Amino acid sequence: MYKIAVLPGDGTGPEVIREGLKVLDAVSAAEGLKFDYTHYDLGGERYLRTGEVLPDSVLAELRQFDAIYLGAIGHPDVKPGILEKGLLLRLRFELDLYINLRPVKLYPGVDTPLKDKGPEEIDFVVVRENTEGQYAGAGGIMRKGTPHEIAIQESVCTRMGVERCLRYAFAYARRRNKQKKVTLCGKTNVLTYVFDLWERVFHEIGEKDYPDITRDYAHVDATVMWMVKNPEWFDVIVTENMFGDIITDLGAMIQGGMGIAAGGNINPEGVSMFEPIGGSAPKYTGLNVVNPLACIGAAAMMLDNLGETKAAERVENAIKTVCSTHLKSMAAGKMGYTTEEVGDLVVKYL
Ligand code: IPM
Ligand code: MN
Repeated sequence: MYKIAVLPGDGTGPEVIREGLKVLDAVSAAEGLKFDYTHYDLGGERYLRTGEVLPDSVLAELRQFDAIYLGAIGHPDVKPGILEKGLLLRLRFELDLYINLRPVKLYPGVDTPLKDKGPEEIDFVVVRENTEGQYAGAGGIMRKGTPHEIAIQESVCTRMGVERCLRYAFAYARRRNKQKKVTLCGKTNVLTYVFDLWERVFHEIGEKDYPDITRDYAHVDATVMWMVKNPEWFDVIVTENMFGDIITDLGAMIQGGMGIAAGGNINPEGVSMFEPIGGSAPKYTGLNVVNPLACIGAAAMMLDNLGETKAAERVENAIKTVCSTHLKSMAAGKMGYTTEEVGDLVVKYL
């Protein structure tokens, strides 16, 4: 029995989570698994009502689950930064979700904006460090509002943080068993301290513990160029937090958009959190038009992370079938089906 904390969140989050749970229920019945869900009301609505973002007591409870399933966070009436820092980033830090795993995989039948590229060419994963870099919050503002104002936002990278992220990436490439290649995405020509550390550890542990995995390097600016021009060059990309944030939005676009892009905030030794990587899409709230496949894909990643690889594969294959045989588009309102109908289709093809 798996205990899952469900955080539907804001906007269209609850609509897509509903479909994800529907699919989880169906696959668990078929596979003889048991899920026990506890819903938590967190997000913009609760903040506006009570001033609470993530009460300590709730955080303590979240630590007790096998996984966390998150819809979306973000509310038009809440100032930017409050929910992001207070909820999403706080969960990443407090639960030490040090890997942000973002597969970039084009399913058959899904449109990509890349000309002449198909599912054969677009199939890689980004392993984004998720607890350090500029996200660590080091820095500050002095003399605010004066002509002598100074703003500093430093990047914090630790040997431990870099090493555990790299190890995850190498191990993941081994498990994927495709090109068996890890590309370190950095900026060694400018960020000479941070990427000196990354690059040294990359080669040190790569040579010693992962000799079967090919090591490659690309500057971040070249990485985005090649993600568009030659996405087939990539197998596993590993990178620091901010670069990973940026390149995975490009990744989501080339795999068909936010309607299909799923991700996991992972603590390999603890409780992990899975989510569609798109936002709360407030303008579509309650309309039953957004694509739930990203959220259903996040459920598949959660199953995989729990060790239920067969169930995960069934869900992923059903998503593929729905993409290739039904959906006209991945975009909200253009799928040719409602949110609910897409969830039903996935269940049908499980
Ligand atoms: C993401 C988001 C977050 C990030 C924001 C909402 C804080 O863009 O998960 O990629 O920057 O990591
Ligand atoms: Mn982002």
